[in-house]
Amino acid sequence: MTQSTLKAVSKQTAPSGRQRTATAVVGLQWGDEGKGKLVDLLAATHDLVVRYNGGANAGHSVVVGAERYALHLAPSGILYPGKLAVIGNGVAVDPEGLLGELEGLQKRGVDTSGLVVSSRAHVVMPYHKHEDEMREVALERAGVDARSLAIGTTKRGIGPCYAEKAGRATAVRIGDLLRPKELSEKVRAACGFKNAVMEALTGAPGPFDPDELIARMTAAGARLAPMIQDTTYLLHDALGAGKRVLFEGGNATLLDLDHGTFPYVTSSNCSLLGIGPGTGVPTDRIGRVVGVMKTYSTRVGHGPFPTELSGDLAHRIRERGREYGTTTGRPRRVGWLDMVAVRYSVMINGVTELALTMTDVLAGIDELRICAAYRTAGGRTERYLPDAAELEGAEPEYQVLPGYQDEIAAARTMDDLPREARGLIEFIEQAAGAPVSVVSFGPDREQTIIR
Ligand code: IMP
Repeated sequence: MTQSTLKAVSKQTAPSGRQRTATAVVGLQWGDEGKGKLVDLLAATHDLVVRYNGGANAGHSVVVGAERYALHLAPSGILYPGKLAVIGNGVAVDPEGLLGELEGLQKRGVDTSGLVVSSRAHVVMPYHKHEDEMREVALERAGVDARSLAIGTTKRGIGPCYAEKAGRATAVRIGDLLRPKELSEKVRAACGFKNAVMEALTGAPGPFDPDELIARMTAAGARLAPMIQDTTYLLHDALGAGKRVLFEGGNATLLDLDHGTFPYVTSSNCSLLGIGPGTGVPTDRIGRVVGVMKTYSTRVGHGPFPTELSGDLAHRIRERGREYGTTTGRPRRVGWLDMVAVRYSVMINGVTELALTMTDVLAGIDELRICAAYRTAGGRTERYLPDAAELEGAEPEYQVLPGYQDEIAAARTMDDLPREARGLIEFIEQAAGAPVSVVSFGPDREQTIIR
């Protein structure tokens, strides 16, 4: 075997000898990079689309023709007829929320029969949402020097659900919805603990009624029953049969519980690293890792954001980019592109190619700033500081690029883009160490250049 044949083979084959046929789409910033659109585009060439982390905190917008869909729990692939849309074991599933989302899609004529939910996914119970809300309110007041300890969560019960999972005994999994004895035992025990804590905190009797919750969850389980499966075997069988699997990351790398800007993160591993535990599929089956990033940064919720903008420019980017939370409607914080952060995310995920989104939003701005390094108390660094306490003190060092004046909504090839926009793309490729394979400049499927 020649050197070049060896190289070609190792690209497609994992050390285990298995083929690297799967694709992953992950967000490289703090979410809302436009992963939904990318997944929708890539779904055309895949057979299964799989969510592996997070829950209804995620909000993926997909535009198909004149229709805009906001998906929270259902994998974006659900919009493609004939694909399996899989909710893996790592997802935190609000059963009533999921049923509501499916009903909404069905009313708009979407065939949702391809949805499969892992029997081992954890259930977000109504008390988790209540706890999320209570905790955030309490933490708003808990910090020192008027500095709140609150995270600014989406209040979808994600953190408390994963905490219950780590606590194990009283955690309800989707499969338990079909096992009356287990469901009843766990919900009664959980309500006992939680009501005692609530009573101690508020002086009023705890609000959780186990009978009511058991009845609601049993009803939801009965409706979900035809969709519930062991998705680990389903995925391995599919890969073994040569099916093409697309993993869809919820949230994004800088919100990853272990690798994001802790503690201002979500409670799951949203980077590619979460695929193994969240689906049971080893990541060596993945050959193509598409990192999705915007040409600027946004963040919802609290936490350090070195390149954050305020004033007119922030307002202009927020309005042009429709930067309001898909899940909560909150205005997103807006800032310049942080390539220190993106380069870190490329490393964490093993990104093989970049998809650049919202390229149209920056049109008309004279000068574009890109953070290429940080100045910290310890000196200049080009390395990311994923601990919030360290990132807090980082000052961005900017590189200035000429902006592009022309609108680019009608571009179809790279040559149609203004020279300055091409310059920005080249700069990003150099700084990230990965090629840009997709440039998106609007929500429609057509507003995309695929190189
Ligand atoms: P949680 O996931 O609701 O616990 O929220 C934790 C943090 O992650 C908050 O700052 C949220 O705003 C943020 N977050 C969670 N999911 C997303 C997302 O899909 N896009 C953007 N921010 C998110």
